[in-house]
Amino acid sequence: MTNKNQIRIFDTTLRDGEQSPGASMNIEEKLKIAKALEALGVDIIEAGFPAASKGDLEAVTEVSKVIKESKVCGLSRASKFDIDAANSALKYAAQPRIHTFISTSELHMTHKLELTSEQVYEKVIDSVSYARNLCDDVEWSCEDGTRTDRDFMCRTVEAAIKNGASTINIPDTVGYSVPDEFTEIITHLMNTVPNIDKAVISTHCHNDLGVAVANSLAGVAAGARQIECTINGLGERAGNAALEEVVMAIRTRNDLMPYTTNIKTELLNKTSKLVSAVTGFPVQYNKAIVGKNAFAHEAGIHQDGMLKNSKTYEIMTPESVGVSESNLVMGKHSGRHAFKQKLVELGYDIGDNAIEESFNNFKALADKKKNVYDEDIIAIVDDQVIRVNDFISLKDLSVIAGTKGPQTAEVTLLIDNNEQNTKSTGDGPVDAIFNALMTLVPHKGKLQLYQVHAVTEGTDAQAEVSVRLSENGKTVVGQGADTDTLVASAKAYINALNKLMVKREKTTPSKMSNIS
Ligand code: KIV
Ligand code: ZN
Repeated sequence: MTNKNQIRIFDTTLRDGEQSPGASMNIEEKLKIAKALEALGVDIIEAGFPAASKGDLEAVTEVSKVIKESKVCGLSRASKFDIDAANSALKYAAQPRIHTFISTSELHMTHKLELTSEQVYEKVIDSVSYARNLCDDVEWSCEDGTRTDRDFMCRTVEAAIKNGASTINIPDTVGYSVPDEFTEIITHLMNTVPNIDKAVISTHCHNDLGVAVANSLAGVAAGARQIECTINGLGERAGNAALEEVVMAIRTRNDLMPYTTNIKTELLNKTSKLVSAVTGFPVQYNKAIVGKNAFAHEAGIHQDGMLKNSKTYEIMTPESVGVSESNLVMGKHSGRHAFKQKLVELGYDIGDNAIEESFNNFKALADKKKNVYDEDIIAIVDDQVIRVNDFISLKDLSVIAGTKGPQTAEVTLLIDNNEQNTKSTGDGPVDAIFNALMTLVPHKGKLQLYQVHAVTEGTDAQAEVSVRLSENGKTVVGQGADTDTLVASAKAYINALNKLMVKREKTTPSKMSNIS
């Protein structure tokens, strides 16, 4: 890297992010997110942990095939089995990276690994040199780095670099550190490890104390030039440093942090929405940068100031992160050509048949809804793309709701093109629908999340529903959109059932180790 102030953004949404309980994604979803991360300008995409499961291996393989601009990285423990799995999953990658790690803190070495520090030291040498023989780009991490003895950390870092690691990652695995301490750790490494100039130092901070972003920036101030982070701060427990926050902090306070990243910040909002929709993890309203209220001004005195000069209360513009006023796009008289143009503008590249289907859905929506916005078009196309491989689909739904009860749902499904119908009651209309679906498609999935959000303003807005189901330790998230919230709920549940069926067919060959 020529520019010494360039910060590499390493996104681990698909690996550490996916380890958030309930955030598992299927291959199509991972591919969709990987493409969005590449478009965003992420330098390195950690696509998964190939040795952990067949699904992870496949996902890293598929991501490797399509991503060309970003490096694609696979995680591995310090074992030949893991490194071989990562290497094989990365065989199609244009720019592969193997990321290998081992714990170096006394606590982890004694109680988790049951190894002495000398044994760990040997494993660092063996794993890094083994990986380096397979791949030119090797990253090494000392798990639980911030609770590791400083001298031992320096010894292992030196050995990792000597044996071929070109990136050294210092994880605050349990989110225990604070900015001053993190600066001190990185400074110590920079001043003590003799070959440190041969590697890029990286931060990987968890957010258990709410300071992951601050710690990452403190690491950069001390000389780190790679930040590991996730969209929306997804990740184990309280999550990782949020990509959108570190990037916008650097951009907004460039006077104090004169660094650059390759991130196209105008795509942050869109990417955040995609990750939230795929995982079913809502973004809190007051979340920095991408929360619904991040640019909303409620107090009269603030609104007055904003009208006079937006800088009074805005430290960055909404446009700089891709937030714009809802765009009125089209109405029921808009034609095919204008619709196609709109899809291109919104970044969709779908085939002619899919365009035709979206156009028909758009026309149907325009008949029901007075104003059709960009967000509506996105919801229509995404809803359609989500359902492309579905084996079960909704044909009809009628519901009796209201105060009198019993709330009843009559559902007709097409299951592998065979029509099946049933009627059920429930504790409310949504419960009645889900009970009917349980009768038509018996399963043991437990409902873990049911979430509705309005795509745009107004009572005629489309509802976007996410449903999370968990069966025998396998979790799936289904989505559905419709102007009728109950239809959207049925579609989301059916989408989750389709995914559950695909997951049932897959086995998990090796158990995921306890990492974050
Ligand atoms: O938090 C952590 O220590 C990790 C490593 C595997 C990098 O995720
Ligand atoms: Zn982690």
